[in-house]
Amino acid sequence: MTARILVMPGDGVGPEICREAVRVLDTLATDHGLDIMLEEALVGGAAIDATGDPLPESSLEAARAADAVLFGAIGGPAWDDQPRDKRPESGLLRLRAELDLFANLRPAILYPQLAHVSALKRDIVAGLDIMIVRELTGGIYFGKPSGMHKNANGKREAFNTMRYDEGEISRIGRAAFDIARARGGRLCSVDKANVLDVSQLWRDVMNELGREYEDIELTHMYVDNAAMQLVRAPKQFDTVVTSNLFGDVLSDAAAMLTGSIGMLPSASMDANGKGLYEPVHGSAPDIAGQDVANPLAVILSVAMMLRYTLKRPDLAKKVENAVGYALDRGLRTRDIMDDEKQIASTQEMGGAIVDMLR
Ligand code: NAD
Ligand code: IPM
Ligand code: MN
Repeated sequence: MTARILVMPGDGVGPEICREAVRVLDTLATDHGLDIMLEEALVGGAAIDATGDPLPESSLEAARAADAVLFGAIGGPAWDDQPRDKRPESGLLRLRAELDLFANLRPAILYPQLAHVSALKRDIVAGLDIMIVRELTGGIYFGKPSGMHKNANGKREAFNTMRYDEGEISRIGRAAFDIARARGGRLCSVDKANVLDVSQLWRDVMNELGREYEDIELTHMYVDNAAMQLVRAPKQFDTVVTSNLFGDVLSDAAAMLTGSIGMLPSASMDANGKGLYEPVHGSAPDIAGQDVANPLAVILSVAMMLRYTLKRPDLAKKVENAVGYALDRGLRTRDIMDDEKQIASTQEMGGAIVDMLR
């Protein structure tokens, strides 16, 4: 059956990198028999400019109808002074919530060709392969009440609420235990249970689940220590499960272990295998429109789509191998600090991947 894929390029470098990902998908369709139909929809600042809404109803409907969404990036200084619900970021958050994409998979894998460009010493990162499982539709991003007002003393006051119920915790917990089982069999749950009630519940529920997954080694770590351990000895981690905000921060930190934020893909899944696939990075306004952004994070997100939604692990492997070959050939976008190597533009990097796939 033909799979419907909705492409949402968004803002900044989003359209540039998505163009390369679409070339990859087109090549898989023409040369490898991938049965897909591509559509495109507005999101983020681009949607605000066109319709006044960062997630217009037509875009949401298209996303609901699709089997998978390929998402570029949203946001930028042009929209930062808008009220919150009229900012690009709200469009992405609403999309995640409306599609119930509660499980965000953020792998940090070091390509051996980039071991010496990591921010850390080579032996600390060589062979790195960790999976951060971030809860994506709850926690402080969505908890009520939230807002900003003048308090009784006439001072401006702002507040957000970090809230999880046990059902939300156990569904992300189960997803993470299952992922750990398919990987190295170790799960580290990251929280702040020494201070936060919501983290104590998180830890209790993870421990309860642990009794059902006796073959998985479950450990707990406070988030401040986890941030430190990620840069001290990242290979101690196999699978990490954590809440929305902690996962956001830790996954950017993990990105730098792999050489560049431009290398990290992600998958945001619902309970039925539908997914939104996007790079971990943002719209990179500082380099937008210059044809220098690294398209590999979004291309590797296509590989995750092939594996998790389209059920074509063979083609996922092909795409990942093509990325390896491009790096073998010495191609580097500017974000990958590698002095001896040849600097490639966004289009050249995408073109190299397409050539490898032919
Ligand atoms: P960012 O990830 O956009 O950029 C951080 C730094 O990394 C910048 O120097 C940028 O040039 C660089 N970078 C990012 N992606 C790159 C790539 N593919 N190739 C080369 N270099 C790359 O984060 P930011 O600057 O904090 O945020 C910019 C905007 O993006 C904000 O509006 C923010 O809200 C938004 N944002 C969106 C998403 C998303 O769409 N999922 C994620 C993060 C941030
Ligand atoms: C991410 C981004 C988003 C987040 C923003 C843009 C809403 O930083 O996908 O990591 O915080 O989840
Ligand atoms: Mn982030």
